[in-house]
Amino acid sequence: SWTTGNVIEEQVAAIRAQVGGKRAICGLSGGVDSAVAAALVQKAIGSQLTCVYVDHGLMRKGETEQVEKDFVAATGANLVVVDAQERFLDALAGVSDPETKRKIIGREFIRVFEQAQLEILQEEGPEVAFLVQGTLYPDIVESGGGTGTANIKSHHNVGGLPDDIEFELVEPLRQLFKDEVRMVGQELGLPEEIVQRQPFPGPGLGIRIVGEVTKDRLDLLREADAIAREELTAAGLDREIWQCPVVLLADVRSVGVQGDGRTYGHPIVLRPVSSEDAMTADWSRLPYEVLAKISTRITNEVADVNRVVLDVTSKPPGTIEWE
Ligand code: XMP
Repeated sequence: SWTTGNVIEEQVAAIRAQVGGKRAICGLSGGVDSAVAAALVQKAIGSQLTCVYVDHGLMRKGETEQVEKDFVAATGANLVVVDAQERFLDALAGVSDPETKRKIIGREFIRVFEQAQLEILQEEGPEVAFLVQGTLYPDIVESGGGTGTANIKSHHNVGGLPDDIEFELVEPLRQLFKDEVRMVGQELGLPEEIVQRQPFPGPGLGIRIVGEVTKDRLDLLREADAIAREELTAAGLDREIWQCPVVLLADVRSVGVQGDGRTYGHPIVLRPVSSEDAMTADWSRLPYEVLAKISTRITNEVADVNRVVLDVTSKPPGTIEWE
């Protein structure tokens, strides 16, 4: 019968058989899947695994610390954190177009991750041969099946390494659905904040700032987002809503009145949605008191925000994210 204990036992045995005495690398995104995949592999092969986390500066408040501290504390994994915040900000400077932002973030991410891989290879030798990925069963069905190898090309001339390194993939979640992955993660002792995390896009807050992404705007949005999340959690609504993007309309200003005088600040959009699979979604009918609390707190506590608005659009026609 299916139990998380059986799944873990089976996967640990399979990972040991696949990897043997060699070494593996796993990229952590802050999300559930990569964290659970890494924790399983860590359980199977211990210090033969090195995890890599690219800090692109587009995460929400506390998320990088969750990976750096809580994930490491729970698993004992070797973690390499690459601080790439400046690099991403530089690459995004002056860019407002959503698709261009997405392309830049994706491109920079791959470059930074590959560079980190090369450095690990250089340090640990060419027996690093496995790349761990948190691929789920639905991902495989959607993409038509098949396992693969990842071809990592060297862009940089790091001394003595082959130009073209082939990694074999380790995908211990291939047979699991999302809710099963959460159960396995819980059983492995991962923190609740990681295991129960709602979906969050890879490009992070970069696609929740309508307009150019700057350090100040990211900091502002992080504060507003943290308040919304705190109040939704306090109201016990985390399981009820699928996710709630908080969006900064950085290119929009409106007149307000705060304290002693008139302000000319930015609006924050709340986008709470309910959904089964993110393909379609409806806007969540949040209790007015919760909305009021979030609005009051954001306008009081976040400088430069003088208005909070609620997105009441279903998907379609609106997407869940604004960009
Ligand atoms: P949309 O905005 O298309 O989002 O309705 C559907 C779901 O996908 C998430 N999303 C992403 N997830 N990388 C991801 O890993 C991305 O680039 C990305 N863009 C959107 C979004 O948060 C929602 O859950």
